[in-house]
Amino acid sequence: MLKIVVLISGGGSNLKALLEAADAGGEPFEVVAVGADGDAAGLAHATSRGIETFVTRPKDYDGRQAWGEAFLAEIERFSPDLVVSAGLMRILPEGVVSALSPNLINTHPALLPLYPGAHAVRDALAAGATETGVTVHVIDAGVDTGPVINQRSVQVLPNETEDELHERIKEVERPLLLQTVRDIASGAVTLGE
Ligand code: GRF
Repeated sequence: MLKIVVLISGGGSNLKALLEAADAGGEPFEVVAVGADGDAAGLAHATSRGIETFVTRPKDYDGRQAWGEAFLAEIERFSPDLVVSAGLMRILPEGVVSALSPNLINTHPALLPLYPGAHAVRDALAAGATETGVTVHVIDAGVDTGPVINQRSVQVLPNETEDELHERIKEVERPLLLQTVRDIASGAVTLGE
């Protein structure tokens, strides 16, 4: 059973998809804890299931590195086989990445290397893209630059708002992340090779 820690900042619909699959039984992975960088609404998906949570707030630490060390210490309490950043809206400091990668993956709402960063959906619309999508990738030392594991494209509809497009991307993102985690857990995908 692959032990996973999921990291979030927001509503956690990707986390919820992983948890609902695990609830149904027969999955080769288990979410052992959920961490956040603030009071993320999505933590409730874990607490309602009796799964441990932790919150490590950057404002409580003297700089990013110190925050990263504290966040890493919390993550490592659970000895995860895989750490999944699923809507963590913060760049992990170098010390966290070097300790966990390649067993550290992220889901990003664009077809990387296009539109990296925190505003991927907005940037795709601003560029007039007719196609965007979602990428699940290994986190490396850069921002959304690590090796791609899986991608799916999504067509941009005329006159679509950022929120509308992001919701449609997330409908594709949730099953893609779930399938990727399954494939890592089953050994069909090997990280770091
Ligand atoms: C996802 O689209 C993720 O790729 C992006 O933020 C969104 C998080 O959604 N970084 P949710 O919190 O899982 O609903």
